This record gives sequence, structure tokens and C-alpha cells, in this order.
Amino acid sequence: MGDTDTGDDDQDPEVSLFQVIQGEAASKRFVYISASLAALNGLLFGFDTGVISGAIPLIDNTFGFSTFIKEVVVSIVLAGAAFGAAIGGTLADRWGRRRVTLFGAVIFFVSSLGMAFSPGVRWLIGFRLLVGFGIGIASIVGPLYISEIAPPDIRGSLGTLQQLAITLGILLAYLVNYVFASLIQGPEAWRWMLGFGILPAAILGLGMARLPESPRWLVKADRDEDARDVLTQIRSESSVDDELDEIKGIEEVQTRDLSTLLESWARPALIVGVGLAIFQQITGINTVLYYAPTILGSIGLGTLTAILATVGIGIVNVVLTIVAVWQVDRLGRRPLLLISVGGMTVMLGVMGAIFHFTALSGTVAWIAVASLGLYVAFFAVGLGPIFWLMIAEIYPLQVRGVGEGTASVANWAANLLVTLTFLSLVHTIGRGFTFWLYGVVSVFAFIFIYKFVPETKGRSLEEIEADLRGTAFGDSEGGEAGEWTSEEDIR
Ligand code: BGC
Repeated sequence: MGDTDTGDDDQDPEVSLFQVIQGEAASKRFVYISASLAALNGLLFGFDTGVISGAIPLIDNTFGFSTFIKEVVVSIVLAGAAFGAAIGGTLADRWGRRRVTLFGAVIFFVSSLGMAFSPGVRWLIGFRLLVGFGIGIASIVGPLYISEIAPPDIRGSLGTLQQLAITLGILLAYLVNYVFASLIQGPEAWRWMLGFGILPAAILGLGMARLPESPRWLVKADRDEDARDVLTQIRSESSVDDELDEIKGIEEVQTRDLSTLLESWARPALIVGVGLAIFQQITGINTVLYYAPTILGSIGLGTLTAILATVGIGIVNVVLTIVAVWQVDRLGRRPLLLISVGGMTVMLGVMGAIFHFTALSGTVAWIAVASLGLYVAFFAVGLGPIFWLMIAEIYPLQVRGVGEGTASVANWAANLLVTLTFLSLVHTIGRGFTFWLYGVVSVFAFIFIYKFVPETKGRSLEEIEADLRGTAFGDSEGGEAGEWTSEEDIR
């Protein structure tokens, strides 16, 4: 479908689709379309992690498995995702962001079909592992691609689209589960639920095949002219040369060594990425999301009300993420993160108190539902989207994919740890203390963000990197450890 004269057939789709459309508005629109398509990575991530909650009781009817196998079917996805994230970063640096997205789309497609037609539980586990691998790749390459095609002034909004898509994917999963459970009304409905994933996978694959490669990756791959062609599509004429020079300037001073991430100048980025990754999970979000129906059911809401309340929480998650998309380039990353984690801490305290001290009925039950909803709301407005956004912003270009991969692996590993330990924690110390424990962790998360996370609002990726190169822990001129932007920027 190429209609360009770059002479490189691999480049045809990368330079042509919207070539006829000129001007700044058109290039911005193209960036929006590209970012939205790339955010389908997030939709698949959300859908495939969310769909299992409704499918698992039906799968149990078909195969009749033990609790252990059930836990494996649920959590093997997280192990697959950690693996996908580990490899995805390197692949994205080697093959390019676009090709890795296409690879991910194929994996989603094949594994969704495979899950739908699994003849036995072993096959199902195998394909769940594969879909997890796809999720891990998607969790990296979506934000990476978006951050690299976005202009600085709207990079925050575009970067948080991935999280918006994750929350929409979770909601879609609830909906798909509900529709197929009522339409098919047989034990085999789960096959349709899991198989539904082929649809967004196909859209992602077909859409991505027509999008350009990231100009930043093209420079990294010594394809400056192709990078210029792409920039011409996504920027106004006048800014193309400046941006290309800026990217090349950064590229020239880079080494290709992964150990770069461990060097003292780059270490703050590594610590911020991995720290946010772990805190995003060990403050308990997925125990609330995965176990919401159980928690809500157990406080005496009745099955239907519990399902509706769960859908309500899914909607809160989406709506507050939209607030983050809207505010992240205005208020900035740090204020939103601090509000988010502060609010989550308070809500965890309240939930802990309710579960510890009271009998859950009447008004108290509704206060519990409200604090659960508020907890998710606070997560959605900050820690949820901004983690995925920032890990695509803070690493040096030459190791951006790998750096982001490291943070993503830490996120999936922490997710797995929390998911596997939640029920035993509740069993051992009780639900009240479990939420209090997450609350204490949230206090540490707040301190961590306050001390170490820089503001990246409105800065180009190259400026962020230049700042990082100028500052390392302990050696900033009079600055605090880890603060790699100026006071003015953090304001
Ligand atoms: C987290 C997921 C979580 C989701 C909920 C994401 O940012 O990484 O673990 O399930 O948000 O919206």
C-alpha cells in the first residue's frame, strides 16, 4: 500500500497513509488517531486481565478443577505478562515499536482463539500463559509508541490514553461476560467470553499495519530520513528539523549498553520507574478490582446488587481516568500522583476500620461500598495512569524500551505477588489489617513520590533526558536527592 519513494518497502506504510492531509491540525489529528489505535494495546491488556473473573465459574463447570488449578488459570497470565514485559522492551528496541505491536496483536489473536477452542485445562493454561505474554508486550509498547510520537504539550494526555483503554477493557470484559452469560446460558459461554479478544486484536493489528514507526526509534536505528518523513506527517513543517536535531543530539551521546541504566546518572530514572511500578501494585488495587464481587457479596449486598456495584466501580475507574487524561498536562504528574496516593491512603484506612470494627450491614455496608469506590477513584486519577505514562518518559532514548521493560516486569511481578498473597493475608491477619497494611505501604508510596519523582509536564523527552544527565542522586547543585528537574518545573 506504499505510495512513497523512500525505496525501502518496509517503510511504505510508515510514511504514507495520511500524506495527502496537510497542516498542523491534520498532523495533530493524525497523532490522536495513531495514539488511540496504539492504546488498543491497553484495551486488550484490560480485557484479558478482567475477563477471567466472570469466566472462571463456567470453566470450572466444564473441566471441574481443584482450587489450585483455578488459581493457576487465573494468575498464570500475570507470570506470562512479566515474561512478555521482560522481552518486550528489548524487542521494541531491536525491531521497532510498530513491528513489536504487530507481533503482540498476532499473539493476542492466536491465544484468544486457542483459549476459546481449548480441549482441556492444560491447553487453556498454555494459552492463558501466551495471552499473558501478549499483555506484557502490550503494556510496554503501547505507552512507548505513544510517548514517542506525541508532541510535548499533549504527551501526558496521549500517554494516559493507554490507561483509559485499560479501564475500558476491564469494563468491556464485565459487559462481554454479562452478555454471553445471558445469551448462551450454557457452560460453554466462557469460550465466547475469552474468544471475544480476537476482535480488538484484529483491529489493533490491521490499524497498526497502517501507522508510521516512531521517529525516535528510526533515529536510533540510523534511519534519519525515514524519521524525517514520519515527523513531516505528525508535526507542522516548521518544527520538523528542530525536533530531528534534538533527537539526534540525544542519540549521539548514547551508548547501547543496558548497564547504562545502572550508571549513577541514570539510576534515578531506574529507581523512579521500578519504585512506581511496585507501589502501583502493593497498595492493593488489584485485590479490590479482582475481588470486588466477593467483597461486595460478603457484605450482604445480594448477588445482583453486588454485580451492579462492581460494574459501577468499573465505571468510576473509567471516568476518573478521563479526569487524569484531561488534567495531566495542566496540573502535572506530581500533584496528581500525590492527591491520588494521599486519597488512597485515607480510603484504605477507612476500609480497614470498617472491616475490623463493624458488622457489615445497613448503612455501614454502603459506607464500605463508597470507600471502595473512592479508593478506585483516587487510584484512577493518578497512580494508575501516571505510572504507565512516566515509565515511557523518564528513560534515556538508547535504553528506553529496556528501561520501561524493567519497570513493567517489576509491576507484573508485584501484581502476581499481591494476587497470590491476598487471600492468605486475609486468612491470617483478617481483612481489616490487610487493608491497613496496604494503607501503611501507601504512606511510603507518598513519601517516595514526594522525594524522588520528577515533574515531566511540558518538557520534551530530550529535555527530560538532558536533565537526568545533569543530575544524579546526591550530586545535584543544592537540590534534593533524586530531584532531576528544577524547582520551577516541580511547582
Ligand atoms: C494496573 C493494573 C490494574 C489497572 C486497573 C493498571 O494501571 O497496572 O494492574 O488492574 O490499572 O485500572
